[in-house]
Amino acid sequence: MTPLSFSVSPRLFRPIWAEVNLSNLKENFKSLREKLSPRVKILFVVKANGYGHGAKTLAREAQRLKLEGHSSADFLGVSSIEEGAAIRRAGVKTPVLILGSLYPFDSFLEAARLNLIPTVSSLEGARRLSEAGLKIKRRLSAHLKIDTGMGRVGVSPQNAAEVVEFLSESRGAMLSGIYTHFSSAESDPVYTRLQIERFNGVLKNKGLKNGKILIHASNSAAILNRRGADYDMVRVGGALYGLWPGFKPLLSLKARIVFIKRLKKGASVSYGRTFRARRLSKIATVCAGYGDGVLRAESNKGEVLVAGKRCKIIGTVTMDMLMIDVTDIPQARVGSEVVLIGKQGQDEISAAEAAGFSNTISYEAVCAISQRVPRVYQR
Ligand SMILES: Cc1ncc(COP(=O)(O)O)c(C=O)c1O
Repeated sequence: MTPLSFSVSPRLFRPIWAEVNLSNLKENFKSLREKLSPRVKILFVVKANGYGHGAKTLAREAQRLKLEGHSSADFLGVSSIEEGAAIRRAGVKTPVLILGSLYPFDSFLEAARLNLIPTVSSLEGARRLSEAGLKIKRRLSAHLKIDTGMGRVGVSPQNAAEVVEFLSESRGAMLSGIYTHFSSAESDPVYTRLQIERFNGVLKNKGLKNGKILIHASNSAAILNRRGADYDMVRVGGALYGLWPGFKPLLSLKARIVFIKRLKKGASVSYGRTFRARRLSKIATVCAGYGDGVLRAESNKGEVLVAGKRCKIIGTVTMDMLMIDVTDIPQARVGSEVVLIGKQGQDEISAAEAAGFSNTISYEAVCAISQRVPRVYQR
């Protein structure tokens, strides 16, 4: 029997893993910092398990970089109390903003206990925050979200004044930030400008002029396309994960060939028999399926790297395994490394390219990598 050499992670009995390169996170913070005025703070968005990269480790790494004086995050952004709690349990003390609307409103007390800053998106939310603060005799701070055209959550620009007024007079709550979110900063400068103008209209409110309220709007797309909306802070995910040009990818998704067979011309592969061999073929089974986050839409479309060469995913992607055509790769054998996202030899399949095989975006491709895939961190 051929011995298998598991160079990366000998602990893995099921050979699929995601490598996350923490040195590239440091580099990306540096590159981002160079694009911003020195007074602009950075909020690092680590929601959805840090876009699939592992929120706890990345939040810890960002804190470490900051403590050591490198460019890093001033704030972290999560989507829920649960995500914030996980970061606090990991020992991270960095200020955390819960993005989006915090419903049910009775979770404000839990957010306060964990020292997480909630977002308020309505007058009702502001009232409930104030009640929570009065209960524990503290003025709980929140950021106010303005919906300037994303159409998701937020107070409309017309109704912003009454919420600002309520919060400035409240004894149980106070504003420490105000923000909006762009819907298409990468592709629609005219609409983005309209969103900025609506936001600037809200910012004229006298209650927001005390200099202590953090104003923020830009995501990766708005910064990289120079939309001129950096204000006091930017909220960045994609660029820091290396999912935008000019930044270094952090994540590679790798697995191994677990089975090899010869297929006669005309024989079929996988559910629904959507692949039929056109020649005598060498087919490899890879330990990666939609249960790991390889989207089923990659069936008969996706490509992977084996021995530095491209080969096609053939047949339907199944829950735990997928098949590839390695007829033209003589080096392919049981135990060979298969790269689904990342570099091998001279070639690379970026998250964006892998996402394109299933008609989606890089963000979804990395977020889809499921919990059962171990993350292996490297420096
Ligand atoms: C409210 C909010 N701000 C900022 C971001 C970061 O966006 P990006 O990852 O494109 O930088 C997100 C991401 O979805 C978001 O929902």
